[in-house]
Amino acid sequence: MVGCGVGVALTSYGVDLSSMIMGILGDGHEISFWIDKWVCEKSLMIEYPALFAIEKKGVFVLDCMGGILRGYGRSKRNVLTAQEKYDLGSLMSQHQSIHTHTLKSSELRTLTCNKRRRGDVLDSCMEDLFRKVGKLLFGKSDAKKKSSRVQVKGKVVLMKKNMLDFNDLGASVMDRAYELFGQHISIQFISATHADTGSSEKRPRGKVGKEAILEDWISTISPVTAGESTYEITFDWDEEIGLPGAFLVKNLHPSEFYLITLTLEDVPGHGQVHFVCNSWVYPSKYYTKDRIFFANKAYLPGETPALLRPYREEELETLRGNGTGMLEEWDRVYDYALYNDLAEPDDEEKARPIIGGSSDLPYPRRGRTGRPPTESDPNIESRLSLIESHNIYVPRDERFGHQKRSDFLAYELEAVLKFLLPEVEALYDATIDEFDSLKDVMELYTGGLKLPQGQSLDKILKTIPSLIIKELVRSDGEGLSKYSTPQVIQADPSAWSSDEEFAREMLAGVNPVSIQLLKEFPPTSKLDAKVYGNQHSSIRSHHIEEHLDGSNVENVVKANRLFILDYHDSFMPYMRRINATSSKVYATRTLLLLQNDGTLKPIAIELSLPHPDDDKLGAISKVCTPAKDGVEAEIWKLAKAYVAINDSGVHQLISHWLNTHAVIEPFVIATNRQLSVLHPIYKLLHPHFRDTMNINASARSILISSGGVIEKTFFTGRYSIELCSKIYKNWAFPNQALPKDLILRGMAVEDSSSPHGLRLTIEDYPYAVDGLEIWSAIKTWVQDYCTFYYKNDDSVLNDTELQSWWKEVREEGHGDLKHEPWWPNMNSVQDVIDNCTIIIWIASALHAAVNFGQYPYAGYPPNRPTLSRRLIPEPNTPEYEELKENPEKVFLKTVSPQVQSLLSITLIEILSRHTSDEIYLGERECPEWTMDTEPLKAFEKFGNKLKEIEERITKMNKDERLKNRYGPVKVPYTLLFPSSKDGLTGMGIPNSVSI
Ligand SMILES: [Fe+2]
Repeated sequence: MVGCGVGVALTSYGVDLSSMIMGILGDGHEISFWIDKWVCEKSLMIEYPALFAIEKKGVFVLDCMGGILRGYGRSKRNVLTAQEKYDLGSLMSQHQSIHTHTLKSSELRTLTCNKRRRGDVLDSCMEDLFRKVGKLLFGKSDAKKKSSRVQVKGKVVLMKKNMLDFNDLGASVMDRAYELFGQHISIQFISATHADTGSSEKRPRGKVGKEAILEDWISTISPVTAGESTYEITFDWDEEIGLPGAFLVKNLHPSEFYLITLTLEDVPGHGQVHFVCNSWVYPSKYYTKDRIFFANKAYLPGETPALLRPYREEELETLRGNGTGMLEEWDRVYDYALYNDLAEPDDEEKARPIIGGSSDLPYPRRGRTGRPPTESDPNIESRLSLIESHNIYVPRDERFGHQKRSDFLAYELEAVLKFLLPEVEALYDATIDEFDSLKDVMELYTGGLKLPQGQSLDKILKTIPSLIIKELVRSDGEGLSKYSTPQVIQADPSAWSSDEEFAREMLAGVNPVSIQLLKEFPPTSKLDAKVYGNQHSSIRSHHIEEHLDGSNVENVVKANRLFILDYHDSFMPYMRRINATSSKVYATRTLLLLQNDGTLKPIAIELSLPHPDDDKLGAISKVCTPAKDGVEAEIWKLAKAYVAINDSGVHQLISHWLNTHAVIEPFVIATNRQLSVLHPIYKLLHPHFRDTMNINASARSILISSGGVIEKTFFTGRYSIELCSKIYKNWAFPNQALPKDLILRGMAVEDSSSPHGLRLTIEDYPYAVDGLEIWSAIKTWVQDYCTFYYKNDDSVLNDTELQSWWKEVREEGHGDLKHEPWWPNMNSVQDVIDNCTIIIWIASALHAAVNFGQYPYAGYPPNRPTLSRRLIPEPNTPEYEELKENPEKVFLKTVSPQVQSLLSITLIEILSRHTSDEIYLGERECPEWTMDTEPLKAFEKFGNKLKEIEERITKMNKDERLKNRYGPVKVPYTLLFPSSKDGLTGMGIPNSVSI
């Protein structure tokens, strides 16, 4: 080791440092350690000039790595400079994952990641060693310093990097080495009450206290949960600080740590002061300013102690960034970008338009990553390679927490992308494997299905790591092992195909947000007749009259008993292009009758295509009506499947992706850029943004990208996101409020005598019944909270951060819709309550309602197919004859084939699962999230209200009169039941769009 003799010292303590090395490297005898580029982008002599200056220049990698520390050089002197010490640690941390062996040097950079086992052992045995070495080298005692001055006790809760990332277990060893070699974590408190008299600024700022070294204070270390450690601290109190309102932290360790909280037990004159941090603190060299954390008292900007205001503003400037450059892992910058990262312009198959930034293709903004543009199109951002895709930038504190990673969520998503998808692509070109019968499909859940044979599948089995294969492909080498049986076929394997269940899922399934009351008959189109000709419905009274339970059309319309699931206008403009691909589908309209027992029945399905000669000639439509026997019954079944295919597309692209995931991201970005962590609205909303940027970034890499899983598995194919952007044109923020949405769809009318002020058109509409309970609970909570901080409308108008936030949401985040007249104001306390309630509703309950039912209902593909490869057979064709003879086979040949079904089931199984660190509505990550007692009480009240709602839901699900709550498939409606266990439960409302 360079210069200081540490290597010799460690060796004399009997430490075999080569045992720390877990990577694989070639034999290293041809590569110059300092001069060649071999372990990072620059040569080590450029990266570490201070070390190079005192090092033997001509050594090879083998010389250094073979004898690890000895090989780093010869002693030149006994004291290292601070820079040398710092560089040394950094260099060591890079090298501990590299191991020379007898492979050729051309394989130098082949590394392995399996450091977990060794790291645990190493971690404990090295601690004592480093303490001893520290004493030896620096004469330093690790005993706590004694002091006669005022002392304050406290606690720091943090997680070391190694606890969070099982690819980097060496970090803790290096950190301990650093502590002993004089590199520390230091903290400086900032006074909320005493000004910095030495500051040259005109406005006052809080005095910054003396730097104190965290490690010097530590008296005990106790693990709290897996990974978290509490450090009890006792330190000399700097009396000039008075009340600490914030602290600066400087990390001189080589690796980052996750700082959770810091609590001071008894600050003289002030008692307990709590800082909630929940943030990654990287080594100081990555930051231009020291990291700052504020005490957990919320203040409106104008009420913030004047001495803290400059710090509050500077922190927001840091988070906004400067709008340029590529953002790196440690960055914390929240900024906006267009969806220009989905395409690969060099490949015609994967070229797509930029989504967002134009009136033709408007879209919400995503988080900026700053990756360089592609060479062929400077407006398209380059994509990461498949291998690097998990490293896509999101602001550091937005990345998935460790538990989620250890639940293999990220790995599963990656596996889908890296291994399964290319193989599915290969199979596409080969023979398409069909399910031969519904019995075959059932075998997915019983373990009896044989894998389709062929090279590609063999390759899947060989390529996917064994851990992932178990989760994903579930093969024991013979057949696919079991997927869990989706709820929709658990009680009865065929009830899904009944008309009653088909209709019920529009009220209580995974997409209960599209059905509308039909107010005029026949249904009309809003498409421009000049472009699309006559697109009004061709359904007439004679099609449906015999299904109206003895009534007539006029009466059922008047009695609010006729409903429609209308996807005609959404898909028709794209139908010609979609059907020019391998997809063969229709734009559909479904009419439903509300029966006397409160259930719906489908009475007509209209299947429409563009006129083959010209769009202007209008739609060519076919009307199918219910039939029980013969080929008509089979045609009716196929018609329902086309509706389910349309509904699956709308569900995934619109109800789920666009209306929750994509629309929330601008709020996440604007909140972090414009509202300080001290702002009460930041504290209110922050839990509802957890993991959203991360899952959306993963979605851009894997799911919605050109050639991604969505394009592969949904009938909309390459037009998926483009189509989604057309529908965003009609998105309106205030209409996302559940009561407004129900009214707009005719599913409720205002009625002050009804609960929540609304009377439902279909009384037993489970999504609406439970949704209104949850909506009202959220609204009451938000009202209780906001009225504590905003005493009058002036306090809203004068809140500069709130005003900037709302302006930015409108003008930047949802900038393509900034001129829409529907944008609500932010001028009154009521505006704050209304707007925040909508945001929380979208992020929590709306997302849960459309997300966690995916596996329960669509885990069985015949119930919710996602694509079709054939149109309805016409009479006098061989296909028509086949339909008569083997209807099940024709059905399966029409909907998603086997491999796409597997891909789709695998994906929705991942997306429908709760991880073990999920935080549900009414819960907070940290009980001390605010020190304001009234909001804490209101939050407790909110939690109790949600418990009451759970009891009510349980009771309603047992009430057999409420037929829509369980239906013929006997699946109770639990998608808005607030709490849940982990896994595939079909219930639970997480706080945020997190999966
Ligand atoms: Fe989701």
